[in-house]
Amino acid sequence: MSTTSQPAPPRQYRKPLVRVLQVAVHLGALLPLVWLFYAIPRGALGGDPVKELIHFLGLGALRLLLLTLLVSPLARGLGFGQLIRLRRPLGLWCFAWACLHFATWLSLDLAFAWGLIGDELVKRTYILLGFSAWLILAVLALTSFPALVRRLGRRWKTLHSLIYPALLLVCVHFWWSLKSGWIEPAIYLSLALGLLWFRRRLLPWPRKLPATSKP
Ligand code: HEM
Repeated sequence: MSTTSQPAPPRQYRKPLVRVLQVAVHLGALLPLVWLFYAIPRGALGGDPVKELIHFLGLGALRLLLLTLLVSPLARGLGFGQLIRLRRPLGLWCFAWACLHFATWLSLDLAFAWGLIGDELVKRTYILLGFSAWLILAVLALTSFPALVRRLGRRWKTLHSLIYPALLLVCVHFWWSLKSGWIEPAIYLSLALGLLWFRRRLLPWPRKLPATSKP
């Protein structure tokens, strides 16, 4: 498959367009959180707001994870390397949403009852899978600073390929967490598998991105 045949925006518009997209990423990730502050006291989350909040934040984190993984193949497919600049903010926002999801469960659902939290981690496999995915995201977020990227060199790419198992862990965590219904998690799992396939076709492994694409 040719990866350079797609039209990229003219060169002079690329930098401003990336800036606009970066602002859109920040607003798109931040505004729903601001909305929560407005919605929760007004009962917009329904009869079981804690459960709804966990769902809202978990789904948001998963969507941000999928978007993060979409950036490199899009940049390659469109021949628009600077799009890569969206990858780090998207990844960090994904981690922020995952932290809020985790924190809601720890604080509002289990009221920091550490014994119970330990029990849940041991007894409920889907919690353990979610926690494993969160740990991976934490490592990826902490090693995403430019100085560390330079320092780790090629090892950075190897380390950051942990994002693939993290995505699969989250999809299984989602599926397993449901008491009934499978269509929604099946859609997300299909999207994840489709995205991994798409990346495999567009980005030879080990990936060789253009020089402009360093985060
Ligand atoms: C830190 C460890 C984690 C814990 C303790 C945790 C806990 C939970 C809980 C309790 C639920 C709801 C289950 C129910 O319906 O009763 C849930 C659902 C979910 N979690 Fe997590 N989770 C964790 C990590 C993650 C991560 C890292 C992601 C995504 C990046 C994620 C995404 C989701 C999704 C998509 C759902 C389903 C939402 C829905 O039902 O609409 N979780 N999680």
